[in-house]
Amino acid sequence: MVQPTIEETRLSTEQAIKTYREGARITDADALVVEDLSVYYETDNGTVKACDDVTFTLKQGERFALVGESGSGKTTLAMALMRLTRPPGHIAKGSVTLNGRDITKLSDDEMRKTRLSELALVPQGAMNSLNPVMRIERQIVDGIIDHLDDDDPKPTKEELQETVRDLLTRVGLRPSVARLFPHELSGGMKQRVAMAIGISLRPKLIIADEPTSALDVVVQRQIMQTLGRLQEGLDASIMLVGHDMGLVAQFADTIGVMYAGKLVEIGPVEEVFSDPKHPYTKLLIGSLPSLQEKREFLGIPGLPPQLIFLPEGCAFEDRCPSRFEKCQAEIPDLFDLGGRREVACHLYEEEAKS
Ligand SMILES: Nc1ncnc2c1ncn2[C@@H]1O[C@H](COP(=O)(O)OP(=O)(O)OP(=O)(O)O)[C@@H](O)[C@H]1O
Ligand SMILES: [Mg+2]
Repeated sequence: MVQPTIEETRLSTEQAIKTYREGARITDADALVVEDLSVYYETDNGTVKACDDVTFTLKQGERFALVGESGSGKTTLAMALMRLTRPPGHIAKGSVTLNGRDITKLSDDEMRKTRLSELALVPQGAMNSLNPVMRIERQIVDGIIDHLDDDDPKPTKEELQETVRDLLTRVGLRPSVARLFPHELSGGMKQRVAMAIGISLRPKLIIADEPTSALDVVVQRQIMQTLGRLQEGLDASIMLVGHDMGLVAQFADTIGVMYAGKLVEIGPVEEVFSDPKHPYTKLLIGSLPSLQEKREFLGIPGLPPQLIFLPEGCAFEDRCPSRFEKCQAEIPDLFDLGGRREVACHLYEEEAKS
């Protein structure tokens, strides 16, 4: 049998767009409310506070992007929202309210059902975890069957095939990809398959952890477009984990900046980009290469602290160009600046009070 080429298996963008319903909007309803969430890893050397007192709200239909450098706790937070934290990690405190229910309080069985019907995770590195010796169809079908409850009716072979075809089309691939093995697919196509597996049960909240890392720039954009259309088609909310500020800016409604296990700034994307508040966010945005002035990516001088030995004050203090006395002594709270803008920095204490 002649296998299709990669080009033949990819739907054109126009074809893919036609398969989606447009027009998902941010509503006033809270999809996810995270309050004071702390996730720690207990190690021989001490407690790693990988996610510390994190508080934010995601509205129904909203696209929230979580950014921060490597090791800042993004995956730790994402896994805790799915209640998939594994030892030596544990949820030390806080609540995660999904559609009105605190999932930290659910039984394992209730949590499993919730995970299946309401939440989807496209894990970090998902495209590299596909089974190399199994055809794509089997992997998607196994994903669906794994997701079925004991009391659910068993789908027929034809129904499963139809579902696989539908899922592949939704993620912008031709149904014929079902017959292929992972090594016959490009990186972007593998990531699309990982997304198809993730959304097989029509979740209301999609958590995608670095879905575009290791892909080239053009493919990154295509994957983000697909993710956006999937979200709109499902009327879902999305939490996108990434570290590429540029890519995130084009996708998200809201951005959350994480530093050393804490959310240090939250706000609407355009406003955070045009008027960043936290000195770390300013440096992150300032270090983005711009088209006008072609210069090297500058990076931020210094290193983030080890999460085992966090300083007494603000974790960014030793790298901060705007630091003053208080910063060494006291950890700043996340201050509400109004207009859905929040920042954890002593510079804004007065502004927040007034
Ligand atoms: N199982 C574990 N045991 C101990 N420490 C851990 C464990 N998993 C993660 N950590 C630590 O928790 C911190 C946050 O890790 P996490 O993977 O959440 O970061 P991240 O922001 O997702 O990074 P990246 O951008 O590299 O994916 C890091 O300091 C990491 O070393
Ligand atoms: Mg990660």
